[in-house]
Amino acid sequence: SIERTLVLVKPDGVQRGLTGTILSRIEAKGYRLAELKQVEASRELLEKHYEEHVGKPFYEPLVEFMLSGPVVAAVFEGHRVIEGFRSLAGTTDPTIAAPGTIRGDFGRDWGVKVQQNLVHGSDSAESAEREIGIWFA
Ligand code: CMP
Repeated sequence: SIERTLVLVKPDGVQRGLTGTILSRIEAKGYRLAELKQVEASRELLEKHYEEHVGKPFYEPLVEFMLSGPVVAAVFEGHRVIEGFRSLAGTTDPTIAAPGTIRGDFGRDWGVKVQQNLVHGSDSAESAEREIGIWFA
């Protein structure tokens, strides 16, 4: 069945002018862009989005980073898009993400507390529906 996922181009990706390149790679893999907008996220929105990370050492730096500039939010659709996008994004740590992935090709460690890893993708169908409800209320 057709699945949906929430993709965020994080502030580092937007600031570096990589939004078009990132969206283009996802479309080129074959997924359909269903929703798209640029947002200045509020702290309230980010607290909902990252509720599972409350209490982790990187939680506050993560929220501050996500508040540091505009974010591009998108919904992509297609069979197995959740795992397909996560594979295309590469592993969370951009320093060791495989070349050929978005994080592996465009990301690295900048020596700051939070991993600035360019993109977010939902990790399950349940998170996708929850996150799409938050960003596209
Ligand atoms: P994301 O997929 O948006 O989900 C949580 C984010 O927290 C993750 O991407 C990274 O940006 C960040 N993150 C996850 N683990 C760590 C970590 N160990 N140290 C710093 N930042 C992290």
